[in-house]
Amino acid sequence: MIRTVKDKIFIGKYSVSALCEKFGTPLYVYSAEKIRDNYIRALKTARKYYQDFDLFYAIKACNNPNIANILVKEGAGIDAASINEIKLAKLLGLGGEKIMFSGNYLSDEDLKEGIESGAIINLDDKSLLPRLLKFGVPNIISFRVNPGYGESNVGEWVTNAGPKAKFGLNPKHVYDAYSDAQKAGIQRFGVHMMPGSCLLNPEYFFKITKMLIKIIIPIFKELNIEVEFVDIGGGLGIPYKKSDSVLDLDKTMSGISDIIIKSFNENKMKLPSLYMEPARYFVGDAGVLLGKVHTIKRSYTNIIGTDISMNTLARPAMYDAYHHIYVDGKESHPREKFGVCGQICENTDYWCRERELPKTIEEGDVIVVADTGAYGFGMSYQYNGRLKAAEVLVSKNEAKLIRHRETFSDMLQNVVLTDEMK
Ligand code: LLP
Repeated sequence: MIRTVKDKIFIGKYSVSALCEKFGTPLYVYSAEKIRDNYIRALKTARKYYQDFDLFYAIKACNNPNIANILVKEGAGIDAASINEIKLAKLLGLGGEKIMFSGNYLSDEDLKEGIESGAIINLDDKSLLPRLLKFGVPNIISFRVNPGYGESNVGEWVTNAGPKAKFGLNPKHVYDAYSDAQKAGIQRFGVHMMPGSCLLNPEYFFKITKMLIKIIIPIFKELNIEVEFVDIGGGLGIPYKKSDSVLDLDKTMSGISDIIIKSFNENKMKLPSLYMEPARYFVGDAGVLLGKVHTIKRSYTNIIGTDISMNTLARPAMYDAYHHIYVDGKESHPREKFGVCGQICENTDYWCRERELPKTIEEGDVIVVADTGAYGFGMSYQYNGRLKAAEVLVSKNEAKLIRHRETFSDMLQNVVLTDEMK
């Protein structure tokens, strides 16, 4: 997404220094073209192998409606984790089965609003079914199956299936879940899973698809269910480190399709629609976070103090996640070891412990933290009076502000000042 011309870093035709000057820091910057390209590449590749294939965007990764709109305009549905995310999808003009409601541990209120929204309801456990039925019989239902195995390049915290995960229906309960749904009069069915995130090895996708198929086919045969869709979740990874491989999308999609086609054909079952709901793959490498260097401390170690704190980008502090760091104007300079931190009073905010960065780095320099389009702004929060960043969307001919930087009055917005304060 970024280009370097004589060490100066550009996003599209805009230099990062000009963007910082105009919009301030810290600043999330996204490339509309890159998001669109990522989506089209995924869709076209998948449809080469499986025509009845569709994509949903898991909007939790970056929930700015202007970003989601790029994908929705290309035909994406939305995977929503909450009622508010359903509302975002509706704001984007979507409705009905273009919205997949994959919440977990939902309240009765969530279930009621979920069914009223007309979205596909994707239940995380069979225990939710009787509670859902209090509010009506959905037109179509699916269950999120935990096939008993998951994986993630981000580590155990982002492994969303297997015995240690909180998600999904135990394979032992799949039969009862669908048979209970049938007994309640539901006639249309899908099946879903989401066992992991940021996978770069196609074999992972083959393994989980085979596991799911093995669980569901005998049950659907026995219950005489003609399943309408199989949603194998997100998880398409992006390389964060220069040494990471790039996911072979052709191999991944052709392998998944082969497994589904072969197993449904062998069992004389009608081929379902195939869905995926990636997020990181669409937006992860289409966003960067720009920040300013405020302090260079040469102490026990060399520490670069920036205005990018753990409240602005939580991933390194939360998961020890790696993000590449560029220094504007100095990329070709000789390097030295530094740590990088933000301004929060927590030592987890010392979010990069050691990195070879240009020796010449100094106060006022702009740093670019790469691949922060997914789970960047979306996971940001206020802490220490450090507020949420602004967001800018760059397209061919413009750089548009798509979210204001938070201010002190935003910080107090929901505070109730009691009489004692007056
Ligand atoms: N579908 C469901 C039901 C999900 O929960 C998620 C993400 C996705 C799809 C999209 O997954 P993706 O394609 O991006 O792997 N905060 C972590 C990632 C957590 C993933 C949560 N679920 C991170 O920063 O790496």
